[in-house]
Amino acid sequence: MGLYTDILWLLSGKGEGLGNGGPSKIEPSLTIWGASPYNDPVFKDLEGFIAPGSEEEALARQINFSRLPRHIAVIMDGNGRWAECRMLPRIEGHRAGAKAVQETVESCARLGIKFLTLYAFSKENWKRPNREISRLWKLLEDYLRKEDKELIKNKIRLMTIGQMEDIPVSVRRELERVGSLTEKLDGLTVILALNYSGRSEIVDAVRRICRNGDVDPARLDEETFSRYLYTATIPDPDLLIRTSGELRVSNFLLWQIAYSEIWITPVYWPDFRRKHVFQALLDYQKRERRFGAVHGRPAPSA
Ligand code: FPP
Repeated sequence: MGLYTDILWLLSGKGEGLGNGGPSKIEPSLTIWGASPYNDPVFKDLEGFIAPGSEEEALARQINFSRLPRHIAVIMDGNGRWAECRMLPRIEGHRAGAKAVQETVESCARLGIKFLTLYAFSKENWKRPNREISRLWKLLEDYLRKEDKELIKNKIRLMTIGQMEDIPVSVRRELERVGSLTEKLDGLTVILALNYSGRSEIVDAVRRICRNGDVDPARLDEETFSRYLYTATIPDPDLLIRTSGELRVSNFLLWQIAYSEIWITPVYWPDFRRKHVFQALLDYQKRERRFGAVHGRPAPSA
């Protein structure tokens, strides 16, 4: 993984002058290579991840690796439709969705993204048929059993947000097991939103504040309030990705996405691949984030 970050760093142009055929800059965020970077032993490692000459490689070359979002949040949608298009049971869409989870987690970890939040089960998802619900939980449990070593190897920390008390005990046990095995790791933090609802999160925060009784209402500000949310220790998402083309936020991180850049793709979640992560990053890097201020003028400090 460390080697990988180095490779991407080199690809970003910051490693100019290292090795043969170094990049010639055409603008700060764009670099082009004269000779094939794959002649360099360091770049040999890229072969397993990004195929030379592929669309992925062309996209990766345009990314400015010094301007990556710190936190990406994803509404993984379209599993059911993906399956229906193929005349398959809906659970097959979720199974294929788990593969997309794996690839997205790996891509974000290798890119050096610090936080990735995945909307895996909303409070509203309990309205689905029982069979689909139980198979979804089983899929998550299997994923955790299979992926734990890979997470540790890649220094990935697992966290959860949502109302954990209502999820099946066996799944909770796995989440706690993998959560404590990975809690000290300092690579990517993957946050699974499970039995999650943005409105419930806000109500839960208000309940905790009232119960505590040590917050003076006159002094309650946004920063204090956000310390009572499930995401107290996590920065707000810079980029929100939604698949399947729906133009909704679906009760996801309602407080935290106030200033997130939103990227929507028509691709169904099971078809979401590394190249879509790259496309989202490139689009994100074209945006100017003003946070309500005026273009080109920094906000006056308070
Ligand atoms: C939305 O698609 C997806 C979900 C409700 C579940 C997401 C679950 C996974 C991706 C698989 C397992 C997760 C992990 C973390 C291993 P939908 O069923 O609402 O699709 P539709 O709108 O087309 O019906």
